[in-house]
Amino acid sequence: ANDIKVKELKPVFTPEQIAARIQELAAEINAEYGDEPMVAVCVLKGGFMFFSDLVRFLHNKNLELDFVRLSSYGKGSSSSKHVIFSKDVEIDICGKHVLIVEDIVDSGHSMRFLLGQFAARKARSLRLAALVDKDERREVDVKVDFAGFKLNQGFIVGYGLDYAEHYRMLPGVFEVIPE
Ligand code: PRP
Ligand code: MN
Ligand code: MG
Repeated sequence: ANDIKVKELKPVFTPEQIAARIQELAAEINAEYGDEPMVAVCVLKGGFMFFSDLVRFLHNKNLELDFVRLSSYGKGSSSSKHVIFSKDVEIDICGKHVLIVEDIVDSGHSMRFLLGQFAARKARSLRLAALVDKDERREVDVKVDFAGFKLNQGFIVGYGLDYAEHYRMLPGVFEVIPE
């Protein structure tokens, strides 16, 4: 799968569309949490650009930021996908609202793992924001509370999303069209 040649990158979401949608999501999130103690957690690497663009519009005076990185094995044959932390948060989330910020939720295995881990730590609430929700591809039941866009097909890159570590820096989201 990692050896296909890319023929073309077809625009899916422009930087302007993403920026406009982030404003709407930030307004929803600001209304939801006020100034209650809150931790926004970026899921590296894919979440980095969405996270950095989203948090600058969050007004919560008691907002802390932290980062996790997940590793998964058995990707592709995803029903057996096994996920572990390669980096955990450093902040204690007990008693605080937690908002996980992801680039994309696809099969749901990554987020099922992370939500399960955080649920055991007595967060005051636990919600998930994702720029792209591929909800028809879910293999496990994971709900995105703040979804930027829904999309059900196409391999997408850009705005944090990679293909074999390439294209993460692109300011928009593109579909990979293979040769
Ligand atoms: C990708 C993506 C999500 C996850 C979604 O991350 O960024 O985190 O997969 O897939 P799932 O819903 O099927 O679990 P990846 O493991 O490629 O790591 P990366 O963010 O470092 O690219
Ligand atoms: Mn990821
Ligand atoms: Mg990836």
